[in-house]
This record gives sequence, structure tokens and C-alpha cells, in this order.
Amino acid sequence: MEGTATLDRYVSKTSRSRQLYEKAERILPSGVSYFIRYMEPYPFYTVKAKGSKLVDVDGNEYIDFWLGHTALILGHSPPGIMEKVKRQIANGTHYGTAHELEISVAEQIAKMIPSVEMVRFTNSGTEANMYAIRLARTYTGRDKIAKFEGGWHGGYDALDVAVKPPLATPESGGLTAGALKDTSVFPFNNIEEISKTMKSEKFAAIVVEPVQGGGGCIPAERAFLRELRETCTENGTLLIFDEVITGFRLAPGGAQQYYGVPSDITVMGKIVGGGFPVGALAGPREIMGYMNPMLYERPKFSFHGGTFCANPITMTAGLATLKLLEDGRLLNELNKRGKKLRQDLSDIFEKQDVDVQVTGESSLFHTHFTREKVRDVCGVFRADRGKLLEYHLHLVANGVFFLPTRTGALGTTHTESDLAKLLTEAENFAKKKQ
Ligand SMILES: Cc1ncc(COP(=O)(O)O)c(C=O)c1O
Repeated sequence: MEGTATLDRYVSKTSRSRQLYEKAERILPSGVSYFIRYMEPYPFYTVKAKGSKLVDVDGNEYIDFWLGHTALILGHSPPGIMEKVKRQIANGTHYGTAHELEISVAEQIAKMIPSVEMVRFTNSGTEANMYAIRLARTYTGRDKIAKFEGGWHGGYDALDVAVKPPLATPESGGLTAGALKDTSVFPFNNIEEISKTMKSEKFAAIVVEPVQGGGGCIPAERAFLRELRETCTENGTLLIFDEVITGFRLAPGGAQQYYGVPSDITVMGKIVGGGFPVGALAGPREIMGYMNPMLYERPKFSFHGGTFCANPITMTAGLATLKLLEDGRLLNELNKRGKKLRQDLSDIFEKQDVDVQVTGESSLFHTHFTREKVRDVCGVFRADRGKLLEYHLHLVANGVFFLPTRTGALGTTHTESDLAKLLTEAENFAKKKQ
């Protein structure tokens, strides 16, 4: 009954969105441009975003904890960054030539992440992972790669496997046996399995998210990452940190600084674009040099490129964003607020006797309705997903936006009253669910 009341509330507030969705369904498969953006009964349609808020076509305002797939750590359209972008627009949006800004952003990244000496830019995290795997294979001369259950690295064929249960079911059509045959999958946060295999199998690279995002906001255990680092070094395998979510969020130097574990190749996205499309891969000169055809001829050269790579709009916004995050002050503050928020959410549900595990790290958080401690994506899917959908619909219907079943992220523009509103609505939901 309560679920129906929440649904009615959402539907009664979003009639214009419903009309748009009816139109969208006819022209966009599933009515959206990325299926995770779909929600039941239909998504609301955003017309404006500023700071911590989204406004939809019906004039409803939402406090946004999704923040553009966690990319917008400074909130929507931060004025200082937007001014710089406007000035850049007047000077051109896309040169298709070399330009100084790409050097500046690369230097800024190298200054912030100690393991980085050289950088290449892409337009998405997916592309960056794809080229990172290619580079690792080129550098090591090996074909096999490994990833972890629940790890999401974008839609690149060789990594689009075992993302969610049932883990053995292909994540998509069109993934050929050939594309997947060199990919091995290991349980996350379990060093024994992968170490054992590495005694006999030689991998070019192992890719890991230091905090699994799509997998349910599950942090890697520090000891797991440390031991993984050691095992990779011992076996001549490159350790790729997919820091598309954790980069420039956990610490100025990303998860590798936060956990004190360096990677060989770092994959970035989201925050580094300052709100514009981006990806990047980076690492030491010795490895990155293989992307230079003047140093290595085919087939020893590892190709990367793309029409919009390092476009000056993204570079302008990215540089300004990184400079704001560089001294760690804003990130430390966000980390403290994230820790408190996870505790407050846990306390609220506990007080109402609702079984919940609040997971996350730094300024990332997620809520799983289960009594069992959640350590991996299988645990995430054993929790009550129906209740999670109801919770997120309750929040959205009451002006607090989470993408259904997805991780929440804090940004610097979230106010204390934004957080208080989330806690109040979590409590209202918990009281109904007692
Ligand atoms: C950890 C991680 N890696 C890679 C990707 C893919 O990035 P993109 O969506 O920019 O292709 C994502 C996207 O959410 C991600 O969370």
C-alpha cells in the first residue's frame, strides 16, 4: 500500500516527464541514452542543474546525490569553472591540433598522482580502460588479463564480464568467445584465489576499482590491495587502478594515495573532466612510452587516439577543477562529511530496527537492506533489492535524487540542510518499514 502511495506521489508531480517519456520510448531504445538512467515508472526529465540541485520539466527540485554519475564533485555548473569555460568557448571548442592546455592538465595530474609521469586523454572511462589493457599487453607481451567480480570498467568487450550476478551470464549480447577468452575473473577482496592462479598463469594486467562503484560501493580492503600490489610486482603483471570514480575524490592523488598503494597504470574519468566528457590513462614514462610510435614501431607501438581527445573545453574545466582539489582541503572536508553521513544513516535504520548495511568510503555511500555484512557484489545482490528500489523511489518522490539502486556521492555544494533532508527522508522511510 505504502509503495503505491509513493508511486502516486511521484506520478502526480511529474506529468510533463511522463509525456516526454512516452515520446522518448518511440525514438530511444528503453526511452533513455543509458539504461541505468531509467527508473520505474519513468524517469523525470531535467531542465536545469545548479549546485546540489536538479530541476525537472514539471518544476520539481531534487537534491542530487548522483551528481552526474559521481563526476560533479564541485556540484553542477560551478561558477568559477563555468566562467573559464565561457572564455574558452569564445576561443574555440575543438581545435583538432596540439594546444597548451593538454600539457597543463597532464602536468597537473602528474603533480597530484605520484605514480604518474605521462598521460593520454580519451573521451570516456570505457575508452581509457580499453587503451590501458592494450598498453599493458603491448608492454608485457602477454595476452591474458584479470578483473574482479563486480568490477565495472565500462562497456569494452574484454572487461564487460562478471559485473553482476548471475556472474556466469554474459553482460551483453555480441560478446564473442574470442573477445573474452583471455579474461579471467577473480573474487573481489580475496587475495588467495588470484595469488594461487598467478603462480601458473602470466597476466599482462590486473584491473581493479579501489572502491567498486557499480558493484555496490564496496571498498577494497587495504590488505587486499597491498598484497595484490606485491603479487603483481613479483609476477611482472601490471596493476591497473581504475580510478574513474576514486580519482581526485578519495584524495588529491586518488585511491593510491589514500590507501598508500601505487599502481602501474592509472585509469581516470569523471572528475578529471570538470563536468565535460573525459577519460585518461597515465603511468610511468617507461610504460607510457609504448604509445609513442617514434620510440616503438608497429607492432611494438600501442595505438591510442580520437577526434575529441583533450578537447580544450574539457581541458579548461578539468584543469580548473584539479587546481581546486589539489591541496586536499575540500576533499578532507568531504571525506569527514561522508564518514558522518554513513554513520548517521546506519544509526537511523538501526534505531527503527531495519536491517541495513551502509557501505562506502570517503564521500561515497550506499545502502543495502540486509543483516549480512556486504563485502562483494554477490552480497549486494543477496540484499533486498525490492526494498532498495522502494527506498530510492521514496527519496525521489520527496525531492532527494539517487539513481535507483546506485551509489550516492557528496559534492562540495551539498549543504548541511541537504544532508539533513536526506536523513529525515531516510528516517521517514525506515519508520514505515519497521
Ligand atoms: C570505475 C569505472 N570505470 C569505468 C567506467 C566507464 O566510464 P564511462 O562511463 O565514462 O565510459 C565507469 C563508469 O561509471 C566506472 O565507474
